[in-house]
Amino acid sequence: MRTTTLIAYASLIGAVSAIVVPEARSSSTIDDTALLNYALTFENLENALYSGALSSFSQDDFVNDGLPTWSRGRFEQISAHEQTIVGLLSSTVGSSAMQACDYSFPYTSPSSFTELAELISGVTVAAYLGAAQYITNKDFLTTAASVLSTKARHAAWIAAPVNKHNAWSGAFDTPLSLNAAYTLAAQYITGCPSSNPSLPVSTYPSLTIANASAGQAAAVTAANNVTTEGQYVAFFSGLSTTFVQVQGGQVVIPSGSMGISYAVLTNSNSTADDSTITAGVAVVQIDFNSNGIRE
Ligand SMILES: *[C@@H]1O[C@H](CO)[C@@H](O)[C@H](O)[C@H]1NC(C)=O
Ligand SMILES: *[C@@H]1O[C@H](CO)[C@@H](O)[C@H](O)[C@H]1NC(C)=O
Ligand SMILES: *[C@@H]1O[C@H](CO)[C@@H](O)[C@H](O)[C@H]1NC(C)=O
Repeated sequence: MRTTTLIAYASLIGAVSAIVVPEARSSSTIDDTALLNYALTFENLENALYSGALSSFSQDDFVNDGLPTWSRGRFEQISAHEQTIVGLLSSTVGSSAMQACDYSFPYTSPSSFTELAELISGVTVAAYLGAAQYITNKDFLTTAASVLSTKARHAAWIAAPVNKHNAWSGAFDTPLSLNAAYTLAAQYITGCPSSNPSLPVSTYPSLTIANASAGQAAAVTAANNVTTEGQYVAFFSGLSTTFVQVQGGQVVIPSGSMGISYAVLTNSNSTADDSTITAGVAVVQIDFNSNGIRE
């Protein structure tokens, strides 16, 4: 883990920000093959998301639901990219490659699919960013970076012209630790082939933060009877983490929040890693317009 530089926008009482890179692990627990299979976990999920929605919804369905005439064709291209990426990663890993699982996606219409695609494509970018530090083979690193930059374009295109949200959240995208990103992906996975390799990742009890504007209080709840009162919510935004204490069942969304932040519950006010996280991961979305004004 890296640094603890205090940075700006701690205008909130009790909020602390720091530059935090997800916790480092020893290379014995996560080798390059496991990392490729970790990437395949997300790629298989996205592949199923796009191909499933495209087989469910026609061009007319997209247009009748208010989506642009040009959007479905682009999703066809994205879906083809996913198949290509899954093919490349699978052939690189070989016989122990992670196979596709069964998934349940909560979309009910083309527009709810595009909202979900924005969320999941953003999580995949965060997963690649968080995992990058563990890659040892430089060729894999180039491949992963090449995939990552394409996926960031997908995510930005889905967010902005399609969903009319902001294409980015700030100068830095947010890396998520292996367990944090996996927790977000796992909610859509209903079962996997028993032959799939097991990965050194696990999920947290879920955390829910009610919708609220930046600077406003929002209700916090955690699954599995995890105590929230007096604990901290760590908001990951770009390379910064802001800790805010839960008081009266609520947390104040950091006033500087822009775009997507990912939030976890911690029992520490200065460290958010697997030794302190007790629940997660909530996605906090604070849209802002083309003038940078929060909506
Ligand atoms: C926040 O609002 C969105 C869009 O209206 C909704 O889908 C989501 O369930 C809400 N989340 C919470 C935690 O209330
Ligand atoms: C939560 O607490 C209740 C009451 O103590 C208990 O019955 C239940 O099993 C607990 N659930 C979990 C997931 O621990
Ligand atoms: C963080 O926690 C430590 C240890 O409990 C405490 O001494 C410190 O005052 C806390 N800092 C903030 C900003 O809440």
